[in-house]
Amino acid sequence: MPGPFKPNDAPVWPLLAEHRRAAGQFSLPRLFEEDPDRFQRMHCSAAGLTLDYSRSLATAETVSLLLQAAEAVQLGDRIEALFGGGEVNPTEGRAALHTSLRDAAGGAPHHGEIAEVQRRITTFAVTLRAGGWVGATGRPITDVVNLGIGGSDLGPRMVTAALHGDDPGRVRCHFVSNIDGADLEQALAGLAPDTTLFIVSSKSFSTLETLQNAKAARQWLSGMAGRERDYARHLAAVTANPGRAMEFGIPADNIFPLWDWVGGRYSLWSAVGLPIVVAAGVENFNELRAGAAAMDEHFRRAPFGENLPVLLGMLGIWYLNYWSASSYAVLPYLQRLRLFPDFLQQLEMESNGKSMRTDGRAVGYDTAPVVWGSVETNGQHSFHQLLHQGTRFIPVDFIAALRPRTGDDERHPWVLASCLGQARALMTGKSVEEARDELLKEGKTKQEAGRLAPHKAMPGNRPSTLILLERLDPRHLGALIALYEHKVFVQSSVWHTNAFDQYGVELGKVLGTRIHDALTGGAADDLDAATRGAIELYKQGR
Ligand code: F6P
Repeated sequence: MPGPFKPNDAPVWPLLAEHRRAAGQFSLPRLFEEDPDRFQRMHCSAAGLTLDYSRSLATAETVSLLLQAAEAVQLGDRIEALFGGGEVNPTEGRAALHTSLRDAAGGAPHHGEIAEVQRRITTFAVTLRAGGWVGATGRPITDVVNLGIGGSDLGPRMVTAALHGDDPGRVRCHFVSNIDGADLEQALAGLAPDTTLFIVSSKSFSTLETLQNAKAARQWLSGMAGRERDYARHLAAVTANPGRAMEFGIPADNIFPLWDWVGGRYSLWSAVGLPIVVAAGVENFNELRAGAAAMDEHFRRAPFGENLPVLLGMLGIWYLNYWSASSYAVLPYLQRLRLFPDFLQQLEMESNGKSMRTDGRAVGYDTAPVVWGSVETNGQHSFHQLLHQGTRFIPVDFIAALRPRTGDDERHPWVLASCLGQARALMTGKSVEEARDELLKEGKTKQEAGRLAPHKAMPGNRPSTLILLERLDPRHLGALIALYEHKVFVQSSVWHTNAFDQYGVELGKVLGTRIHDALTGGAADDLDAATRGAIELYKQGR
């Protein structure tokens, strides 16, 4: 059981704990009644995004204490260290400079090398999109398949889906991540080897899934009759390990570098974003980066009380560490953001799912909530029942756009109304009396109404945050992604976690390799009985 939340000796943590006891009595509808200006005071905007946190279980005092807590962990110094190339990833002895990748002013660390790679990916993507990149048989490439996993997949895949149809070129983009051969097989159905190009995207160029898929892809390419030696025209790589990419058979000219100061889950702004450039064009990729840069500037300069990532991050701390909300739901009311929850899962849980502090002590409190969610309104017809009437306390982030993506979309008000309706229902709920009155009006007998009313009542007082984009275009999408990246950084600063390493994923990988060896003929004696049992079953079935 985690103890009291006290990341350092500052007096603010016990004050927050004390305040939490009072907050147990907060009623959201009453807070709105008592303060007609609540919405005005509890929303702020930056980079084309509005954060409305008026439906939070928080008062002005709560926010003030949370901001004192942010000060108490020297968040301002941490932000400067992040942007300035300080060693914010101490276990790997590195900076984390994803912000440099979208810096337009040109003063950020590593500007020169970033500009050079951006120039190369631009040329590559423009040539591809113009039909100027021909394959081994002289036909132009029509399909690009990104082979990558985790940060080398989720970001570019999510953004490509979000920008689908924005400046489409003649080249289609596909994504394959899973080691299960069905993933590659399905992606390749209907594609021809001589018009397909694979981007092997792997920072380390040693990730099992990606290398297995790359080998299978190379095998598939070799089916081009008599042209085996030319398959290099069908392979490109994005990696921080160019030597291994070359050993694999990828020509140096087709290798786009990545650096150790870019974390995988923060890398879509680098050459890892190449599929985005291919699918949505250079201008849109630059707009995406510009939106993120605008959020970066805001994060760096705005006072904490108006700072979107700081507020979002500190509210997350409030719910996890003071309300024991072990999960939160992210619900985009935008079909094009259907992959955003998947992207956030890696961003938040791989970054902050840690039990050790950077100072080498065990945390002794909860870190990183479980992030889950789905595109809406689908969730309304599935798990919202639990959000509204279940026993768990689950805060929600709603994400919606004020305007439709293009022109007049008559259905857009329905989308926004659905989102606002859910936020209001969570907040206001429905009392047993209200439910009973409704049933009586419907013509139910008193007895019947009395019996059913408790089942139809909803407790309400369930908090949510609303993030409104002006519209879902590349610029606002970039700002949204950067908002969550920085939120994660804010929270890591409070929890004293290293948001940029991921040692927890290593053991499973090592054991997977060991067990593969046992499945394919090697000894299994040193493995546990359960694993040996499954291996036996596998061998019997062969
Ligand atoms: O297994 C986790 C991880 O290391 C992620 O952090 C990373 O995004 C993913 O694997 C892919 O790594 P790579 O880009 O090196 O193939």
